[in-house]
Amino acid sequence: VTAEKGGYEHFMLKEIHEQPKAYRDTMRGRINAEGNQVILPELNLTKEQIKNIKNIQIVACGTAYNAGLVGRNLIETLVRIPVENDIASEYRYRSPIVSPETLVIVVSQSGETADTLAALREGHANGAHVLAVTNVVGSSIAREADSVLVTLAGPEIAVASTKAYTSQLIVFTLLALYLAEVRGTQTEAEVTAILAAMQSLPEQVEQILAQKDAIKEYAEQISKHEHLFFLGRGVDYAVAQEGSLKLKEISYIHSEAYAAGELKHGTLALIQEGVPVIALATQESVLEKTVSNIKEVKARGAVVMAITQEENVTDLLRSVDQVFVIPRTLPLLSAALSVVTLQLLAYYASLALGHDVDKPRNLAKSVTVE
Ligand code: G6P
Repeated sequence: VTAEKGGYEHFMLKEIHEQPKAYRDTMRGRINAEGNQVILPELNLTKEQIKNIKNIQIVACGTAYNAGLVGRNLIETLVRIPVENDIASEYRYRSPIVSPETLVIVVSQSGETADTLAALREGHANGAHVLAVTNVVGSSIAREADSVLVTLAGPEIAVASTKAYTSQLIVFTLLALYLAEVRGTQTEAEVTAILAAMQSLPEQVEQILAQKDAIKEYAEQISKHEHLFFLGRGVDYAVAQEGSLKLKEISYIHSEAYAAGELKHGTLALIQEGVPVIALATQESVLEKTVSNIKEVKARGAVVMAITQEENVTDLLRSVDQVFVIPRTLPLLSAALSVVTLQLLAYYASLALGHDVDKPRNLAKSVTVE
């Protein structure tokens, strides 16, 4: 059995370690030799149609929904098209406002999630082009979509999704760059810089994987707690939501992800002596703001762990109890690194508690019924 797990104790750990390969495989053939252009022939939209897109709706469930939150950040930042995120089971019943100038993006690892398939059909019924981001080429969602961007993560067995999520982030980055090029919203130099930074990600993920002993030690500490909080702003908030979901799914520890600035509007009441808070602080532009939120929770007794980029460490260390560092990347790409720390954290917390990491209670890998 460990043979099929490639020598790892669990599929989840194996899949976490397969991420550098998944990133490379998902990028392969989609960046030109000069490294200044994205190639996406799978996108069945003419340049004219791309220029006419008025809005984008990203619809999915679970971890795929969380990937879409990062996708929104990428597309809005690089392409300046308004993006909405929707949970598929909400979207299908709320009569969403969709037009032929809407691009609907459905995200699904399995390509079989019933609510996501229904959302795809809702998009079609309103005349929208539906683009599927999926890991399974022959899936129902891939077959019914107008365009398919495949994530090349390889089969994902563990219920808690890891490499599929990060491969979805890679696809969203490529897609945003492609749309930006067609619509002329980024210069060639900007695109080149982002593509170069993307190509460093696999190696940088290896550097995070090399920190696993320290992450394990921290996970063992938090496994003794019943509640904890994740904080972040912007893309860090999106990653906080995925980190919180991952932890809940497999460790059964209750956690909440909060937009750091929203904390004082209610959640701060739950912060008391000894509560662990995980603060994502990778974004230079809002670092000071996040640090001030960290001080607010520290003042109420929280024990704070921060995840940041190398250059911010000294600033942050003054206000937190512990820091995990991700290698230097563009602010726009940090999610593809910071989430790896949180995946390992969830994994080791579940392990410390003796849970069935790969098959958590009550959950299924693919939800093909409503
Ligand atoms: C289930 C899985 C989650 C997954 C979600 C969406 O709930 O347990 O890990 O994120 O379905 O699955 P999909 O295959 O559509 O990405």
